[in-house]
Amino acid sequence: MRKKIVAGNWKMNLTLAQGEQLINDILQAGLKLEEGQEVVIATPFPYLAKAKSLLKNYPGFYVAAQNCSSEKSGAYTGEVSAEMLQSVGVDYVIIGHSERREYFQESNAVLAKKVDLALANGIKPIFCCGEPLEIRQAETQNDYVATQLEESLYHLTAEQLKDVVIAYEPIWAIGTGLTASAAQAQDMHAFIRSRIANKFGREAALHVSVLYGGSAKPGNAAELFSNPDVDGGLIGGASLVAADFTAIVQKLA
Ligand code: PGA
Repeated sequence: MRKKIVAGNWKMNLTLAQGEQLINDILQAGLKLEEGQEVVIATPFPYLAKAKSLLKNYPGFYVAAQNCSSEKSGAYTGEVSAEMLQSVGVDYVIIGHSERREYFQESNAVLAKKVDLALANGIKPIFCCGEPLEIRQAETQNDYVATQLEESLYHLTAEQLKDVVIAYEPIWAIGTGLTASAAQAQDMHAFIRSRIANKFGREAALHVSVLYGGSAKPGNAAELFSNPDVDGGLIGGASLVAADFTAIVQKLA
């Protein structure tokens, strides 16, 4: 059975004190995670060690970074390596978020290097893919996402691919209040799984979790998660409010 995951992406929000409060509020909600369900919290770099220590006695709760360097170590001022993340106990790392691709010019080739370094350090990549509005309007989103997968993931082995989580995030739905319809999400998730099956085999495809991201909220999460190929969500805005985030986690059931 593949994992069902709700991951909160805080982006560049909250102070340390606010972040601690948010994690404590989430933990106090008393979520009962079922077998195979996970909650992942992606904090800014400076809070990762603290987040890890707050979550350490809570099975099913994991910490993610929002990025890592494409280089191993050395003279890269301001960068944070996958090895550093591993050394503070980080479990997952978001790689290739559309904001990184757009504002920091991260190419599919650079993202492939990040994926490799994360895996080499025992950190599971949450690999983001998804098309901009003009591609959706031209109805070429499948080709667009297929290229993202090919250029950043297809060099992996099937064994490595099993440690990758894929997040489909249509860019036109991120932070806009527009959500992909349940049918649009299911269509793309099924397409992604078929591409994975094609390249890595059926077993790997059935194993890989594919999350939906883009204006997911308590009010639409149940419908999105009810699709057979939607294995949870990557949540931005709603992950900053404990009640909203925990309500979304409950929709995994
Ligand atoms: P959103 O962000 O939920 O605020 O749309 C999702 C994301 O960017 O991961």
